[in-house]
Amino acid sequence: MKYELLKTEGRAKRGRFHTVHGVIETPVFMNVGTVAAIKGAVSTDDLREIKCQVELSNTYHLHVRTGDKLIKELGGLHKFMNWDRPILTDSGGFQVFSLAGIRKIKEEGVTFNSHIDGRKIFMGPEESMQIQSNLGSTIAMAFDECPPALAERKYVEDSVARTTRWLYRCKEEMARLNSLEKTINKEQLLFGINQGAVFNDIRIEHAKIISELDLPGYAVGGLAVGESHEQMYDVLDHVVPYLPQNKPTYLMGVGTPANILEAVDRGVDFFDCVYPSRNGRHGHVYTNHGKLNLFNQKFEKDMRPIEEGCGCPTCRSYSRAYVRHLLKAKEMLGMRLCVLHNLYFYNTMMEEIRDALDAGEFAAYKKRKLDSMAQGQD
Ligand code: GUN
Ligand code: ZN
Repeated sequence: MKYELLKTEGRAKRGRFHTVHGVIETPVFMNVGTVAAIKGAVSTDDLREIKCQVELSNTYHLHVRTGDKLIKELGGLHKFMNWDRPILTDSGGFQVFSLAGIRKIKEEGVTFNSHIDGRKIFMGPEESMQIQSNLGSTIAMAFDECPPALAERKYVEDSVARTTRWLYRCKEEMARLNSLEKTINKEQLLFGINQGAVFNDIRIEHAKIISELDLPGYAVGGLAVGESHEQMYDVLDHVVPYLPQNKPTYLMGVGTPANILEAVDRGVDFFDCVYPSRNGRHGHVYTNHGKLNLFNQKFEKDMRPIEEGCGCPTCRSYSRAYVRHLLKAKEMLGMRLCVLHNLYFYNTMMEEIRDALDAGEFAAYKKRKLDSMAQGQD
């Protein structure tokens, strides 16, 4: 058994996921390092210090630069980054659609132009699995199409049907790759991805079909792409009950601390999002009393840490005034200190969520946390 369901409160799940690279305590936030680097000059040594359990990298980005073949030759992504804990790789599907100049989507896969040098590349389910196998990640994501938020029903139906056919091909190709002698991680796990935009009936039908493949985990994709928070929660309310409860559920690319609390409440186990690193690079930092913009003049003489009592490397040593000075002086250290604090804030919130679930007090914790964060500035 890979996933242990330790406790539930309403639909919220507290779990433990066993992998060849160690145990993942859930709910978990995966720290985004798209190109095998957390933006903001954060190293894997730093990740160990800020309670990161899972690092997330990207198939598409590593394929176009520096190349998955080279990374395989050097012993795989874990060795390359010096990170021995779990790594999840996204399949490239989403990034191809959002970043690269798409030329054509066909049954076999997608032809697109690299955003690095414009060269024409083909990627289908087999290629995505081969790249992820070369990287040797712990969890590989299925190759999917994420339809635009405003796509009409007929487009979404056809797209989801193709994503389902691609999933069968991903499963078959991964089984083949995992059985090869030279494969880096022969226990690589495949997660399927539910799609269907905001059409709940399409999503439910799709969830039922992919659940039958008995994969070790399932994601809900195609959200946080322009729909409202209420629409996203409504999709989760409808679709999560049709995904296996005894497997992890991963909400891709979400979200704010409030989004995460709401999604945990609806049964989600895994999260990832660029917000903590992206906001940190812009001097926006999270606290339990709301977000602060450290560029604000009012922090000029503020010798308090970003958050009183925070155990992160930034708050243990530096003041708001100093970090503000670094940001204003465009010193890299300013960004780095903000990103470290923000990721620590997210990882710590997940720890609090797990503790609250263990104690059977998640509902009370969620309310307290949301109220306090909404209360605003100090
Ligand atoms: N990241 C955020 N949303 C998605 C999605 O729908 N598919 C994939 N592969 N990655 C994502
Ligand atoms: Zn801090």
